[in-house]
Formats: sequence, structure tokens, C-alpha cells
Amino acid sequence: MAPSIISDAEGHFVDTSSVAPKKSTMTTTTNNETTAEDGPTFKYTSTRKLKNAQWQVSNDFRSDVVTVPTESMMQAIIDASVQDDIYNEEGDPSVNALQDRLIELTGKEAALWTLSGTMGNQICLRTHLTQPPHSVLLDYRAHVHNWESGALPVMSQASATQVYPANGVHLTLDDVKKHIIADGNIHFPPTRVVSLENTLSGTILPLKDAREISEFVRNFPVPEWQKPIAMHLDGARLFDAVTAEGVSLKDYCACFDSISICLAKGLGAPMGSIILGSKPFIERAKWFRKMFGGGTRQPGMMAAAAHAAIEHTIPLLPGVHALTKKTAASIADLGYTITLPVQTNMIVLDLAADGIPAAAFLNYGKKHGVTVFPSGRLVFHHQITEDAASRLVDALRELMEDKKAGKTLESYKVSGGYV
Ligand SMILES: Cc1ncc(COP(=O)(O)O)c(C=O)c1O
Repeated sequence: MAPSIISDAEGHFVDTSSVAPKKSTMTTTTNNETTAEDGPTFKYTSTRKLKNAQWQVSNDFRSDVVTVPTESMMQAIIDASVQDDIYNEEGDPSVNALQDRLIELTGKEAALWTLSGTMGNQICLRTHLTQPPHSVLLDYRAHVHNWESGALPVMSQASATQVYPANGVHLTLDDVKKHIIADGNIHFPPTRVVSLENTLSGTILPLKDAREISEFVRNFPVPEWQKPIAMHLDGARLFDAVTAEGVSLKDYCACFDSISICLAKGLGAPMGSIILGSKPFIERAKWFRKMFGGGTRQPGMMAAAAHAAIEHTIPLLPGVHALTKKTAASIADLGYTITLPVQTNMIVLDLAADGIPAAAFLNYGKKHGVTVFPSGRLVFHHQITEDAASRLVDALRELMEDKKAGKTLESYKVSGGYV
């Protein structure tokens, strides 16, 4: 018999591979409410797909989006409310519970569920940016500018001031001071938002720097009819950042007027992001979420899974970072060039500098049962196993030894993800 997962009479998620599922008997009460009298109300016909996916993701170093739901997430989906989040003026209870949990954790006034990190970032920027000419100051590598399909000029009619951090890792107050655009010269679109990213390629933008930038930006002189310049944070991996830096999430969030946090990256939820800000900001953001196609009918199931993911995964992040650092040390010992400090869950290799073709990198990984992107960026998450990390090191050892021995390495063109 195929393995099956059902909810028991109390609604708990149990694996009953050897038990025949009972039939659910539904009755209608005098209030016209339907109740389950006995047996499971939900049945998963097979967990084989989930188990296969679990195996795959435990060996997959392409990204921390490559995770699968845990049992606690599946249970949460079963227990979720299934109300219409648009028609119901009060929203859906599971969505509200998730938003309230993020408000509690971050200390911000209000929160809003969005479908993706891209949607969350672009809604925030659109909500801040009212009328051109205007620009957003950001790191030249910023996701909101480089990896969101050119949304910024389309959705917000804004141009970007791309800044190269002088220290090679993260923006500082000096970088911002040098590049911020004041009102007054009609050649240049004034800065209306400073958008920071933490983490960026796994590196931390420290609280001290975020505070200094925030203090300066929020007090930067603007015409009296203008709002102060806004501080936005793409905090796709903010939980990784504050956990690794050992600072308070609330203190970090206090530096920003809007924050977007991905739930489907290191936290491991199946989908979704949260944006946070003041109550008036979030009220206005709701219009743009609807306009961008992000008003959803029964998102409670996904919100409940994300809620469970937060509780499950946050305590695991220090272990993820420790495994990443241990693996990075082994890879560095093999003679690989690592381009950025390894501070959280990413190792960025410079394959070109080491004369390693991307195709060989991919294929040596495959031979040792690990999946990697051709770019040389390696990402860890809570479902990566120690065994997979050690096979990754084995693959890279063999590759480096073969290269040093003068063996011809495959070098055809490969693509995929972050090329
Ligand atoms: C830093 C950063 N911000 C935002 C996003 C966008 O998230 P999504 O893929 O959910 O749109 C990503 C996705 O990789 C990211 O790495």
C-alpha cells in the first residue's frame, strides 16, 4: 500500500503507511455547519514525492529557496483557516496570525503578506515613491535593481543610483553621503529612497552602519513640501543576518521605514514574503498589492505554513551558518578563491580566477551527488546535510587535483540560475 499521511481525530498530521484510511463521515448540524464525525478529514495519498524532494534538496547548493515543507508545515496547512483574504474585511485568520507574529518579532506597527520577495520589495518602493523625478540609492548589486526584471522604472518610474561600496563588502555612511542626490539641480532626480540589502551575497550589513545611514538619511534636508527620504530594507535573509551578527531584530528594523522579509528563502516556507512598516504605509501598500495582482483568495494555508517555518527554522540558523563556515574553510584549504567574507549561509567562489570552467564545476558536483549553479555561488539551508557538505568538498578536491595535474576540464557553455 502506498504510504499515506492523514490528520487524526484531533487534526494531527500522522504517517499511517500501514493503516487503511478511514472514511470521513460528514454531517450537517442544525446551524448548517458541516462537521467531521470520525476519521480523517484530510488524506495525503502518498508522501513519496515529498520524500524524494527532501532527498534532492538536502544535496542542493544552488539556493536556500530549494527547501521542502517539514511535517510541522504540512500540519499547519491542514489546520489553516481558509477564508477569502480580499472579500473578508478582517482578512484571513491564518494570514493575520502570521502578520501579527512578524509585528511582534520586528517591533514594526503593521505587516502585509505578499506572494514573493520581488512583489514585497516593489510594493514598498512604489508606496514610498509618489511622483517623478525621483531616484533610489542602492548598492550596485542590489536585488531590487538587478534581479527584479526591471520593475523599479516600470512600477515606480524611478531611476537607480548604483553605489560601489568602498570597502568592497557593504555600503557605509560615507558611500551614501557621496552619492545621495539633493533637490535643487534639475539635471538630477533627487533621492527619495535609500534601499539597503541584508544579507547581500551572504554578507552582513552591520547594525552600526545601518544606524548611521538611517540617521543621516532621515535628517537629510528636503523641501518643506516633501516627505523625508525613506529607508527601505530588502531583508530577504534578515533572520540570517541578525542571527549571525547577534543583534536585536527590533533594533535593526527600527532603522527602516519599510522592510521586506522572504519567508521562502532560509526560513523554508513554500512561498511568500512579508512587508512591514507604519500603519498608514501598510494601508497604502494594500492598494499596490492589489494592483500588482497580489490580492489572494485563500492564502491562509501558505501563511500557516510560513508561520510554522518561522518557528521551526530560526533556531536552526546558527547550525546552518556553522556548517557553511566549516565547509568554506575546507574549500579554501583546497586552494579555491572565495571572493566575499563567509558570514552566514553563502560561499562565493571565483571560478574564473582559479581557471575552473563552469561546466567542470557542475559535472564534478554531479558525480558526487551534489547540485550547484555554474556561477560558483554555494548556498546552505536547514535541510543541507553534513554528508552533502562533505561530498561537496570531495567534489571540489577532485576537481582541483585534476586541474593541478593538467587534466583537460570540460568547458562547454552552461547556464542556469545565477550564471
Ligand atoms: C536579496 C533578495 N531579495 C529579493 C529576492 C526576491 O525574492 P522572490 O524570488 O521571492 O521574488 C531575492 C530572491 O532570490 C533575493 O535574493
